[in-house]
Amino acid sequence: MENFIYQNPTKLIFGKGQLEKLSSEIQPYGNRVLMVYGGGSIKRNGIYDCVLEELKKINAEVFELSGVEPNPRISTVREGVAICREQKIDFILAVGGGSTIDCTKAIAVGAVTKADMWDVVTKKEKPAGALPFGTILTLAATGSEMNAGSVITNWETNEKHGWGSPFTYPKFSILDPVHTFSVPRNQTIYGLVDTMSHVLEHYFHTEENTPIQDRWCEGILLTLIDIGPKLLEDPENYEYRSTAMLGGTLALNNMLNLGYHGDWATHNLEHAVSAVHDIPHGGGLAILFPHWMRHVLDESNAHRFKQLAVRVFGVDPQGKSDKVVALEGIDRLREFWNELGAPSRLADYDIDGSSIEEMAEKTVVANTTFGNYRALTKQDSVEIFKASL
Ligand code: NZQ
Ligand code: ZN
Repeated sequence: MENFIYQNPTKLIFGKGQLEKLSSEIQPYGNRVLMVYGGGSIKRNGIYDCVLEELKKINAEVFELSGVEPNPRISTVREGVAICREQKIDFILAVGGGSTIDCTKAIAVGAVTKADMWDVVTKKEKPAGALPFGTILTLAATGSEMNAGSVITNWETNEKHGWGSPFTYPKFSILDPVHTFSVPRNQTIYGLVDTMSHVLEHYFHTEENTPIQDRWCEGILLTLIDIGPKLLEDPENYEYRSTAMLGGTLALNNMLNLGYHGDWATHNLEHAVSAVHDIPHGGGLAILFPHWMRHVLDESNAHRFKQLAVRVFGVDPQGKSDKVVALEGIDRLREFWNELGAPSRLADYDIDGSSIEEMAEKTVVANTTFGNYRALTKQDSVEIFKASL
């Protein structure tokens, strides 16, 4: 493995009732608080009222930005930046899923950076810093609660980009699995797929000697394969929800990839699809990942796919070539996601071949090739999208 430095400054506050820590966690930063949330789920499930009760304890003056979209938009980021500047906000509190948290990260940087945030997201400008922010996670999926990443969409240009900076780690994240009881079935499935996809993105790398990291990845995958169907049957089961929540965080707080770089081509492909068609991130990944696997699998890398197939999907390797075992593993992944009820074809979102060229172009906007495990070109994107129709 490569040399590495690991530092993750986010304080993780996990478990039932942990919302009661909110007021003491915010207090050091001031009392002008901007609360950022999505389309209203937190009002329907009561989290909104509980958060306001907590904020009363420190006499916080609470401002609100609601309506953050799934696949959050730069226009909403700009609204939040304007509130922070006009109202001299001390602290931003994200209450929601990855979209709300990602939007909050961009607002936090935008509040103290002169440049327009789209120029920061597209890496033309550097962040100057960020307002402090914390999160109350309500959906297990992205890992945004304990990483510095943020993904923002620009609907004027149909672009969706990931960005991040050392300033965009939450100061704290409160993870109460009870807050995820109300997550609907489809979003629960997308969250499981997203978490597994993060682990899989890490898993495909070219570094030698990563046995501990491999076993961590395999352990998370095995666990999610075990509890995923049970969680869907019993969505208010605290143990299953807490396992899914911890899995989501660990899959993308950059512990799994100590000493190596994962692939991340499938995420680039999915961001291109959702930039054009505004589909749920986890749904897009469920469609694309097995096709990415089939596309890049060859004799030279089949051993890695075989390891996954044998250790995670229980494929019997006796008397079979590495490639055959690898293909069986990919089929089992597809079957598992099908059993959960995840989409398997772009047609499931009414996407036909007419936008393939546009989507493929978006996969190579930042660089002419992408993917650390196997460098892909625009032509590879076209082929993977065609196979996914
Ligand atoms: O908007 P509200 O009304 O809150 O409803 C949301 C939304 O409709 C709902 N929801 C969330 N918590 C709920 C709930 N409904 C009922 N009960 C609850 N407790 O779920 C819907 C989806 O929410 P969203 O935040 O969009 O989902 P997710 O967490 O999957 O985030 C997706 C976004 O994160 C980006 C994706 O690209 C996408 O834009 N990603 C961010 C990453 C990161 N920052 O590290 C990495 C990921 O790979 C991903 O790209
Ligand atoms: Zn993801």
